[in-house]
Amino acid sequence: MCGIVGYMGRSDSVSFLMEGLKRLEYRGYDSAGLAVHTGDALAVRKCVGRLAELENRLSEQPVQGRSGIGHTRWATHGEPSEINSHPHLDSSGRIAVVHNGIIENYQELRDTLEKQDHVFRSHTDTEVIPHLIEQERTDGAASFRDALLAALRKARGAYALGILSQDEPGILYAARLGSPLIIGLGENEYFIASDVPAVMNRVHGVIYLDDGEVAELKPDGVTVFKLDGTPTTPEIKTVDLQPEAAERAGFETFMLKEIHEQPRVLRALLEKHLDHANRIALPEIHAEPDYFRNLHRVMIVSCGTAYHAGMYGRLLLENLTGLAVEADLGSEFRYRSPKIDQNTLFIAVSQSGETADTLASVRLARDMGCRILAICNVPGSTLVRESDGVIFTDCGPEIGVASTKAYTAQLLVFALFSIWAGRLRNEISSDMEQDFVRALKRIPDAIHYVLERDRVIRDIADKHHDGPSALYIGRRYNYPTALEGALKNKEISYQHAEGYAAGEMKHGPIALINEYLPVVCICTRTADAVYEKMMSNMKEVEARHGRIIAVATDGDEAVLKLAEDIIYVPDTREELSPIVNVVALQLLAYYAAQARGTDIDKPRNLAKSVTVE
Ligand code: G6P
Repeated sequence: MCGIVGYMGRSDSVSFLMEGLKRLEYRGYDSAGLAVHTGDALAVRKCVGRLAELENRLSEQPVQGRSGIGHTRWATHGEPSEINSHPHLDSSGRIAVVHNGIIENYQELRDTLEKQDHVFRSHTDTEVIPHLIEQERTDGAASFRDALLAALRKARGAYALGILSQDEPGILYAARLGSPLIIGLGENEYFIASDVPAVMNRVHGVIYLDDGEVAELKPDGVTVFKLDGTPTTPEIKTVDLQPEAAERAGFETFMLKEIHEQPRVLRALLEKHLDHANRIALPEIHAEPDYFRNLHRVMIVSCGTAYHAGMYGRLLLENLTGLAVEADLGSEFRYRSPKIDQNTLFIAVSQSGETADTLASVRLARDMGCRILAICNVPGSTLVRESDGVIFTDCGPEIGVASTKAYTAQLLVFALFSIWAGRLRNEISSDMEQDFVRALKRIPDAIHYVLERDRVIRDIADKHHDGPSALYIGRRYNYPTALEGALKNKEISYQHAEGYAAGEMKHGPIALINEYLPVVCICTRTADAVYEKMMSNMKEVEARHGRIIAVATDGDEAVLKLAEDIIYVPDTREELSPIVNVVALQLLAYYAAQARGTDIDKPRNLAKSVTVE
């Protein structure tokens, strides 16, 4: 959560800080601020609300300078307020800090500092950092850098920091421990940012800072060292993202753009993983075939939307590989006593690769001897660096807070991996693999077809959006789809929505059904094992006058008798149907949110990347 940026160079820093913050606003948006070194002093501007408020403040009180730091906040310690927004200063106002993460021992540090006459202005954990540096200076640290390193050695928890000192106009400091931070290398200008899209049109290379590293950015270069002061030689990576990837490209929101990108993203992902004989190839897994043949168990862990992908992965892997597979939430798994060992493959699914609970689970699994496979969208992320193998979802930046293209890409990766592992373990034949590959190749067009039904879906959303609640039901592979459809709806439209396994209807949710309740029923593929069961569930809803919105297969007329509204989708193999069906639910949520007038890309209280517990 929270986005940070920084600039050190020969131009004015403010335009980059604002541009970079706009690209990071998905990380948090309850307040924003910046600090700029004007040449003589540190000038700070901050305010509550979106970046637009900060822009207004800057037009009333302009500021200029060749180095600066900026922040967009998602509140953890202390409510969203001007006082609590970043940057935070020391007592003298000579040190400014922006921070993403949590300083866990801040109370203890603050108590000590207050006894040393430091006066705190905010309720944040962050404010201890500038005061600690100030105190180290008072206690005799030989230089600002030494004071910074000494202060950081005392801080526990997670941080990505940008730090400016009034006394060192030509230096911007950055530090990382457990929260993402990159250094961007431009032409005689250097940047810091929480994420690559913030800097991608200005840099030719990036350094992903490692945990426990501090960087010193000067107009003529960057040096990196460890917390004990020893220099390191950072690896410079090239940036192959196109700047347009972080633009809306004519769509009214990033979310709508990302929904529409799905056919292209999935087609490219599929092509990347098919060899010349049309077989699935996953060289990036970096494991001997024997490893998969001898494997006993798979544990999949993730959070939010990625958890729904994990649930889908569990079903498919179990079905196609014969392995015992379990899926869990990161926030639950990390507090379990799991029975996993070196014969368990641990799969972590994460769009960002920075989700705190997923990372904590990875570390637990590693300590217990598991091999770690990541399904991730962000190269250089913490998850990628801590895993033995990675299958990238390759979606490009996902900026809308509600995940869409990353989800369908995660499902596709699970499909590819399950088929691949199934063949390796002789659970499925080459012919069966080819059947799957043919079905997979039809997915992008099938999604395209759903996107073309945009008008129909919008009309359905317009009709049902104003009720207090909605129920989503599905079975087997489409049970996670029901959960994901309900999640999308609540995230962006704020309509209460519950996803349920349709088979559980009689155990509770059926009590909710009345003539006002929209019930989204995922009932595709007449030939599927669970189709008849879904039809029965729909009849139960109909008998109680619930308002059925069915997601059904093209040409299915039986559904017409039961449903008030139908979203038809192309016929797709049952195991793969969630990849198509969910797109209808993404659009349904999208247009419900639009009708309810919410801020779709930045829904209230949410942040794209949950880097704290
Ligand atoms: C947040 C996002 C979701 C995402 C979840 C897990 O809740 O809003 O879209 O699914 O975090 O994030 P990850 O980056 O690990 O997939």
